[in-house]
Amino acid sequence: GKDILSIADLSTKEISALLQLARDLKKGEKKPICQKILGLLFYKASTRTRVSFTTAMYQLGGQVIDLNPSVTQVGRGEPISDTARVLARYLDILAIRTFKQEDLQTFAHYADIPIINALSDLEHPCQILADLLTIQECFGTLEGITLSYFGDGNNVAHSILLGGALMGMKVCIATPDDYKPDSGVVEQAQALAASHGGEIFLTKDPVEAAKGSHVLYTDVWASMGQEASADARIPVFQPYQLNEKLLSYADKEAIVLHCLPAHRGEEITSEVIEGKQSRVWDQAENRMHAQKALMVSVLGIE
Ligand code: CP
Repeated sequence: GKDILSIADLSTKEISALLQLARDLKKGEKKPICQKILGLLFYKASTRTRVSFTTAMYQLGGQVIDLNPSVTQVGRGEPISDTARVLARYLDILAIRTFKQEDLQTFAHYADIPIINALSDLEHPCQILADLLTIQECFGTLEGITLSYFGDGNNVAHSILLGGALMGMKVCIATPDDYKPDSGVVEQAQALAASHGGEIFLTKDPVEAAKGSHVLYTDVWASMGQEASADARIPVFQPYQLNEKLLSYADKEAIVLHCLPAHRGEEITSEVIEGKQSRVWDQAENRMHAQKALMVSVLGIE
């Protein structure tokens, strides 16, 4: 099956088709049904990804099994190579949230069912699919749209870089010097942007990134697993807070996105997340539509 470990595992054409399918599913214009079984193997907490995958599969007529590591042998050290081969005999598709991209690659190597990255240290491809759907709904297009991301050059930033580049967007990433996105991902995004009419721009100046931008995007300053460094990060990231001042530099029609969960008063203010330019609840809803489209596509459901 087709594994989605990175958003760049999909081509521009495939992402466009998925977004179209997600829109059709959302409008109820298509109602594919299946009796497939989705496994969720999450090593980290999740509200949106867990529930949106579950409801998406239920709405397709399939079923979902929660493979929480604390109640399976996975948590007791059974090798991924064995777990993957066994789970592939029971399940039709497996979504995994893990601390290590490498684990996803091992699962994909040993399991001959689609493996979906439901967030790793490197990427969050399901999130960016929903983000692209939301941006397309707001602006009618992705090409030529400027998306500016503020804060930590993390897994979400990586998928934004790659997904935005594939869709011909201008992606600005504003981070402190010590929190830039991975250089390998940046190089990959620059190469994709060059061949897809996109543009990649890195800066440490949040105002420069905000100027004239259509989409202002932020994420938590300390991801799961980085809690110990949270206090030290706050002063470093403070200039990158998505607040009304920063928003004032953006395009008049600009929208605000946040993949959630949000920390009001840290990476985003209450006024901005609750303000009229915020689209975060539509963005969260779109997780379900985008992932339903993704499952329909990789499972080949008619
Ligand atoms: N945005 C996101 O992935 O949310 P969860 O961690 O709640 O799944």
